[in-house]
Amino acid sequence: MEAISKRFFMFLSHNKALDKMAKRWGSKFGANNLVGGETFLQAIPLITQLNEEGFQVTVDHLGEFVDSTEVVRENVQGCIQSISAIAYHGLNTEISVKLTSLGLDISQDLVMENMELILSKANESGITVTLDMEDSSRCHAILDVYKKLRQKYDNVGTVIQSYLYVSDKDVDDLNQFSPYLRLVKGAYNESGKVAFQEKKKVDENLKHLIKKQLLNGHYTAIASHDEAIIDYTIGLVKEHNIPNDRFEFQMLYGMRNQLQSELLKKGYTVRIYLPYGEDWFGYFMRRLAERPANIAFALKGIFSK
Ligand code: FDA
Repeated sequence: MEAISKRFFMFLSHNKALDKMAKRWGSKFGANNLVGGETFLQAIPLITQLNEEGFQVTVDHLGEFVDSTEVVRENVQGCIQSISAIAYHGLNTEISVKLTSLGLDISQDLVMENMELILSKANESGITVTLDMEDSSRCHAILDVYKKLRQKYDNVGTVIQSYLYVSDKDVDDLNQFSPYLRLVKGAYNESGKVAFQEKKKVDENLKHLIKKQLLNGHYTAIASHDEAIIDYTIGLVKEHNIPNDRFEFQMLYGMRNQLQSELLKKGYTVRIYLPYGEDWFGYFMRRLAERPANIAFALKGIFSK
């Protein structure tokens, strides 16, 4: 049953007609509980509140798989404006970007040009930009962009997904770049040709990658709501005397609030991934696919209107 509902929500996440309709509805149907607002300005009070509570933030302008150069241009402008607003309001937040919203599917030159604009602007204010990882067909194109940018910029990170067989080799290849990596399980529907299908193997590989990246000595973000993964990390850093300023926990906004606060109280850095924008549909469907219990959010959102 869970596998069927996962496939169903992943199928919906790619449905362009529903996506278009969803934009017209605005962030209703529970997405309000997972999304910071439809514009960066709307998200500022929430970012400020999270910062005041002690959380760090990474904001993500929603949108992906864009094939129009005009939309790409708007997305780049949106990123640059949010970087200016972060600096102006003194917010403690990084930004996360999806390269398919910045021209990856149009051309490598375009996406590189756009990332240069974004990173140089972010660099002026000491803001880090993380390249989210998308589906496996784009994984190596994203890593190639990352490697090129990393040779010029310190303020860039990326993501590795433990469900992919190739991730162990990718972490080895990236080692020479001293990468800031966010390690996740992976959120897309991938086949057995490229990805582990059993949760146990995905979890084991995530632990393996966390250990490898931390022992390689590079800053590591452990992005998971899974207590077993968090407990494993805490045990590992204690065993190897890895100081708290070498890693952080990351969770999605609206997920496991109590666990977020507990980790903060224990003295760990906790960063909240806060999406904003009108393009909330695909993101929201992926969250429902990961955890059908998130449907409760949707129902709460509908009945609170
Ligand atoms: P998983 O979903 O396996 O859950 C494990 C256990 O945790 C559950 O069995 C349950 O016990 C508990 N749990 C989880 N959620 C809960 C909840 N809401 N309430 C109560 N218990 C809960 N993916 C990607 O492909 N590319 C990317 O760039 C990113 N970026 C990213 C950033 C950040 C900050 C996060 C947190 C995640 C991502 N992801 C991602 C998504 C990631 O790949 C993955 O799909 C989700 O985080 C879900 O996996 P978990 O590790 O959280 O545990």
